[in-house]
Amino acid sequence: MGKSRTVFVCSNCGRESSKWMGQCPSCYEWNSYVEEVKVNKTSTATNRSTYAMQPISKMTDVTLKEDRESSGIGELDNVLGGGLVKGSLLLIGGDPGIGKSTLIMQLAESLSAKGQKVLYVSGEESASQLKLRANRLKVKGDNIYIKCETAFSQIEDEIMKFSPDLIVIDSIQTIYCDDLSSAAGSVSQVRELTNRLMNISKGKNITTIIIGHVTKDGAIAGPRVLEHMVDTVLYFEGESSMTYRVIRTVKNRFGSSNEIGVFEMTDTGLVEVKNPSKYMLTGKPVGKSGSVVSCAMEGSRPILIEVQGLVSKTNYGMARRSANGADGNRTNLLVAVMEKRLGISMAEYDSYVNVAGGLKVNEPSVDLAIICAIYSSFRNVVIDEQTIIIGEVGLTGEVRGVTQFAKRAMEAKKLGFKRIIAPKVNVDESKHYKGLEYLGVEEVKDALNILLGR
Ligand code: TYD
Ligand code: MG
Repeated sequence: MGKSRTVFVCSNCGRESSKWMGQCPSCYEWNSYVEEVKVNKTSTATNRSTYAMQPISKMTDVTLKEDRESSGIGELDNVLGGGLVKGSLLLIGGDPGIGKSTLIMQLAESLSAKGQKVLYVSGEESASQLKLRANRLKVKGDNIYIKCETAFSQIEDEIMKFSPDLIVIDSIQTIYCDDLSSAAGSVSQVRELTNRLMNISKGKNITTIIIGHVTKDGAIAGPRVLEHMVDTVLYFEGESSMTYRVIRTVKNRFGSSNEIGVFEMTDTGLVEVKNPSKYMLTGKPVGKSGSVVSCAMEGSRPILIEVQGLVSKTNYGMARRSANGADGNRTNLLVAVMEKRLGISMAEYDSYVNVAGGLKVNEPSVDLAIICAIYSSFRNVVIDEQTIIIGEVGLTGEVRGVTQFAKRAMEAKKLGFKRIIAPKVNVDESKHYKGLEYLGVEEVKDALNILLGR
């Protein structure tokens, strides 16, 4: 046993400090520093296979070939870049109750049906709870072995004896490692466990899925501290009170990141949503002001969204600006552009923006739609239902080009839209699909003039 010392670690980003701090200087999170006892022990033994050094050109295809296994769930394969890579380490994060365990149980079933052995380690739920869920999901699970255990040494023994094809750790925050004195879920525990799991996974070529809760609470380390160690990071988004769930790739060593998969939570588990655009637009009001359809790119996938705006007289001295599903600062900036460039005064009006369906859109290509939605509500004019509005807006009120315009136009056409108001540069350069009217605009004013029929 080496010497021990006390350090303070940010439970959000893992930054270490010798003294406690109120705000973390690297991730700016408040109250995230927790005390940890650090033991300077000799490095943990690794059983990782070692290759001799060799030039990349001499490497044989055998070492390069990635062994992909379809997860049996199309939307999940999509975010993984084609399927699970054998021997990779995957982290799934998300709020408690969002459906992580459900999704992974469904994935385990699909692999088990193909004859692969799955070891499902649960530190949170009892075997009977897992059985109840499995029944609900109609999981047969001939090859799914459940182990309810929180001590890592036991889990390690089980892995060595059983040599499964897939290991599931649900969740990393409930497991502890005997060698460390800190509590389960602390930064040092979570990090050490992931490190050991990584060694096992790479050494024995076993695919490993780690489930981690995202927590605001400083006492438990979030999955963020692990992101750099694992191969793939997926995050579950959405409100647990709503039925849709979006799973997003934040990092992927075997595919493109920022891809999304959309699911719906039903009483028999998660069901894929094959056509998210249609899903996002269901329930769109007809003949009402303050509703605009736009198209955002999520990774390589175009998704149509309904942007809603609401403007009402303010009851207090200061007008409220609020945005749900869109970036709040960006929305404030767009309101300022409207005031300056369109000459309207919003000082006495509260404005609210909402992206219906609950998707979080961080793309500037919805700027123009946000402005049109706010304007539509402000002047109480209805925007044509068959029109899609796309474009980034700059501070001088100019409408700037967006990426992958043809893909967006195609998606609009597929869902039966008739007109597309878009940046002039995109309209001029892009291929035009039949049955879609293209209206290129250079300024926010131009777009509003078209909408108002001037
Ligand atoms: P769960 O997978 O346990 O969430 P997590 O592991 O992310 O904490 O899912 C929890 C929620 O999902 C719970 O509120 C119940 C709901 N649920 C369904 O609606 N249908 C189902 O078939 C299942 C299994 C869960
Ligand atoms: Mg769970």
